[in-house]
Amino acid sequence: MDYKADSARYSKMPYRRCGNSGLVLPAISLGLWQNFGHVDLRSTYENILYTAFDLGITHFDLANNYGPPPGSAESNFGDILQKGFGAYRDEMIISTKAGYTMWDGPYGDWGSKKYLVSSLDQSLKRMQLDYVDIFYHHRPDPNTPLEETMTALDLIVRQGKALYVGLSNYPPEQAQEAFDILRKLGTPCLIHQPKYSMLVRTPEEGLLDVLGKNMVGCIAFSPLAQGLLTDKYLNGIPAESRASRNPSLSPDQITKEKVSSIKKLNDIASSRGQKLVEMAIAWLLKDARVTSVLIGASKVSHIHDAYNALQNTAFTESELSAINNVLSEIN
Ligand SMILES: NC(=O)c1ccc[n+]([C@@H]2O[C@H](COP(=O)([O-])OP(=O)(O)OC[C@H]3O[C@@H](n4cnc5c(N)ncnc54)[C@H](OP(=O)(O)O)[C@@H]3O)[C@@H](O)[C@H]2O)c1
Repeated sequence: MDYKADSARYSKMPYRRCGNSGLVLPAISLGLWQNFGHVDLRSTYENILYTAFDLGITHFDLANNYGPPPGSAESNFGDILQKGFGAYRDEMIISTKAGYTMWDGPYGDWGSKKYLVSSLDQSLKRMQLDYVDIFYHHRPDPNTPLEETMTALDLIVRQGKALYVGLSNYPPEQAQEAFDILRKLGTPCLIHQPKYSMLVRTPEEGLLDVLGKNMVGCIAFSPLAQGLLTDKYLNGIPAESRASRNPSLSPDQITKEKVSSIKKLNDIASSRGQKLVEMAIAWLLKDARVTSVLIGASKVSHIHDAYNALQNTAFTESELSAINNVLSEIN
């Protein structure tokens, strides 16, 4: 497909500074964890990428294992870059990660220097890129010294294979330790990627304070709780939904009680003139420490819904307390 980006794309999206770095990120970023693998329909995910970029979504988040099969999201993304999208490479922030199981044997998982360096080399080949903008350690490794993992991240930047480094799923104390090591090495941590949504508020228990204090950015993943914070499951589990086809969201997580609370959130969103998906994204962006909200999408319309969240990101005290009341029923 011949793609030409919308010339109005940069008037459409707010960009927020990532910690105290020189980099700004779009308020909404797009992740390729699901729906971009070899099992998915190319025309659909290609259109999702183009729609996102046309709306000013400049940041695309990948990982070595995204697919299925693992690696295929990177290969497909690389192929789309080759077919023309790559003309905009310098307008994009592309990230990838390593930290979960990727290949057989003792060197294809966790946080050794051996694994991180080899994995990024493989990711660059699949995406047909010389470098990524951000390389993440995907999860903490209890058995590799933190110094080794951070030294590997520093090395990767010095080799020119990544411009910045980030951490994902690190708890606050370990994140602080890692930030201190990285700062000493001369490669400060750019960003942390935690799971954060109205249904998963763990980052409020210390992580956001650590990020604020260290001036490290934050990109919130699974902001819609994989689709729960939309109107999708209000009346059962549709056949074409993640809960019906992917083990990452099992139907038994969608209890009657949860759905009844989500209906109340949906009513609060309606009273603000928003869809629930819009309110869920706006609710994360109200905190200035959140640099970007990292959504997933299986349809082009999901990108438009997310973008519409930006029309109203302000909350009154009474709206926030009504939301908190509902969330306290769930958590
Ligand atoms: N660092 C990590 O460990 C980690 C872990 C997980 C994810 N991530 C990152 O975060 C990104 C986003 O994660 P996520 O996909 O879980 O995010 P999410 O935004 O919480 O969920 C996205 C899913 O919600 C549904 N959805 C989205 N918009 C909708 C709408 N308007 N109406 C109805 N349903 C809608 C779609 O699922 P359906 O298929 O049901 O349509 C979509 O695939 C990933 O791609 C990845 O980059 C990182």
